[in-house]
Amino acid sequence: MNPWSLSYEGYDPASEGLREALCTLGNGRFATRGASPDGRARTPGTYAAGCYNRLPSTVEGRVVTNEDLVNLPDWLPLTFATPGAAWFHPERADLLEYRQELDMRHGVLLRELRWRDRQDRVTQVRQRRLVSMADPRLAALETTFTAENWTGRLRVRAALDGRVTNSGVARYRDLRGDHLTCYTTGALDGVTWLTAMTRSSGITVALAARTDSGEPRVTEEPDRVTTDHVLDLVENEPATLAKIVALTTSRDPAIHDPRSAAIRAARRAPHFDALMAQHAAAWEGLWERAGIDVDGPEIAQIVHLHIFHLLQTLSPHTADLDVGVPARGLHGEAYRGHVFWDELFVLPWLNLRFPEISLGLLRYRWRRLPEARAAARASGFDGAMFPWQSGSDGQEETQTTHLNPVSGRWLPDNSRLQRHVGLGIAYNVWQHYLATGSMPPWCAELLLEIARFFASLAVLDPVSGRYEIRGVMGPDEYHETYPGAASPGLANNAYTNIMTVWLLRRARDTMRLLPGLPATAHELSRWEDITRRVRVDFHDGVISQFTGYADLKDLDWERYRGVRRLDRALEADGDDVNRYKASKQADTLMLFYLLTADELLDILDGLNYLADPGLIPRTIHYYLDRTSHGSTLSAVVHAWVLARSDRARSWHFFTEALRSDIEDVQHGTTAEGIHLGAMGGTLDLLQRCYLGLEIHADGLRLDPLLPDQLKILSMPVLFRGAHIQIDADHRRARTFTRGNRS
Ligand code: BGC
Repeated sequence: MNPWSLSYEGYDPASEGLREALCTLGNGRFATRGASPDGRARTPGTYAAGCYNRLPSTVEGRVVTNEDLVNLPDWLPLTFATPGAAWFHPERADLLEYRQELDMRHGVLLRELRWRDRQDRVTQVRQRRLVSMADPRLAALETTFTAENWTGRLRVRAALDGRVTNSGVARYRDLRGDHLTCYTTGALDGVTWLTAMTRSSGITVALAARTDSGEPRVTEEPDRVTTDHVLDLVENEPATLAKIVALTTSRDPAIHDPRSAAIRAARRAPHFDALMAQHAAAWEGLWERAGIDVDGPEIAQIVHLHIFHLLQTLSPHTADLDVGVPARGLHGEAYRGHVFWDELFVLPWLNLRFPEISLGLLRYRWRRLPEARAAARASGFDGAMFPWQSGSDGQEETQTTHLNPVSGRWLPDNSRLQRHVGLGIAYNVWQHYLATGSMPPWCAELLLEIARFFASLAVLDPVSGRYEIRGVMGPDEYHETYPGAASPGLANNAYTNIMTVWLLRRARDTMRLLPGLPATAHELSRWEDITRRVRVDFHDGVISQFTGYADLKDLDWERYRGVRRLDRALEADGDDVNRYKASKQADTLMLFYLLTADELLDILDGLNYLADPGLIPRTIHYYLDRTSHGSTLSAVVHAWVLARSDRARSWHFFTEALRSDIEDVQHGTTAEGIHLGAMGGTLDLLQRCYLGLEIHADGLRLDPLLPDQLKILSMPVLFRGAHIQIDADHRRARTFTRGNRS
């Protein structure tokens, strides 16, 4: 097995969706799914970071508006035909060989096939595809044909196709996906182009293509432009045709208009080989900063895959784009390209390699502070209330109703009550500061505004003398309401309450760091008071996920064994998961993921709760037994919390998180987009959990504890401007600053 490539033998229309997602190519500005250029069973998808559009749809008589990351016109189409034969489609061709390979080191998707036509002519086709990491406007598809036993004319048809919609996720198909309108097409001096506009956000998108092969015949249709080429093939002599494409949008800086910019970029682009060389060099630079060496080709392959897809979604080109971390990458339409809290699992890894990308992602949040402030005000709070799902302008994009595919029923969706998303943003601000040593004033403002919001969420209960946070949800999406309650939301989610204390402490530190930041004495004393008197519930010697958790029923786990989405299964059975002690994913255990044991015990001590050292392992085991892992993030967190106490089980969860996408462990979700949080989380686990890399105010601490299954673990990190290489095995760890072995 080659740890740098992912290869597939044979053509299987049924598994194309998964291959397409895993073979997506991108450069942090846009990405294109690994759809075949010529198949029938294809879900083409090209998504540009931040290119969203809203559309109203009617669901069960009600109008709902959703914002989607728009599927842009398809630049891939290319098919061919031997003399007298129909256009090639893999589904109906007599395929003698078919293989596809994702070369992760160089960022290239290779496809090789041999097919025999009805007249026994055998033709070999070899395609190389890239989405340039060197010039983020460019992509290219090179096709080389070799006639094995014939000589004659091969017709080739290439197109830029605007007839695409957002239709990649079956359960959204009742919702509108026709985001594009106002198409124009044309051809100019050997370059064809197509433009379209998003219906409500009014973003113009342009594609321009140059085909390096003779003078094609051009056919312009309103929403598609096609070029027809003829290649004179001579037996056993390869002939190549390259399609070089530029994609621009009206969101781009330094352009007059997208169409002219795309045409100029396509025209000026070098030939395929030069384009490839520049692209490969850009990837080499990224791997140098981001590579992780582990032994064992299977693990190494998945680690490479995760780094690869993370950097294809969030690259140095992303830093300047005003975009966030889309939960499903730029790889599919699940969750509509929205930004949740998943950045919490991604930024810790980026911080120590590409802090400039992290900063860009934090700036996406900062730029949406006015919207978050308005949302807080509208709900009667101070500070900034960030949306659970964010897209273009930072409004709440969480759907109000969702389809349970098991029961076929549309149900209310209260997940927007996950206010904890703001805690994740603040946590990332602080981690970025620790990793870089720099806290720009706008980052401080972001952290403080979030702190103000959580401080205003906390209400003092005069009876208990404790501050309570009511009407929220924790990360566990199975609990959004109390059984039978009139309104949704829970009281005193432990994760939210304890992280609020953590945040208010960091707010105080930030004030010390940047004296002069505005805060009133009243505010500061209230923050101080909250850090001493927030309510946390306990039952059976463990931290309660929320007030009243102890009163919930025990689930018949035997009956639902192996079911990951208990919410859907129970609803389909006429029941309600809210009634049970059952979690979709780590919730209380997130505390142990983000805080050290000392930090957590210190917070509880400050709150005057007696916490014995056994509290943490007891709480871990309690929830571990009651979690269905309905989110890929769950395995990441569990691998971490068990790392020191149960190494075998930790490894089990780690490998489960590694397998999430490559094996599509949720049966069908990866085809709709990768799980970027889990991918980032596995990389963070390698550095934080197994290498034991901790960032403290006074420096980096290293305390490796490699699992038995890993013999070596090496990676470079960038800590406060110093490039440090860390190499560990079971006996020792060595660090040296780059170029300076010690
Ligand atoms: C999880 C969330 C996550 C979202 C996007 C959901 O299934 O419950 O925690 O943010 O997916 O990845």
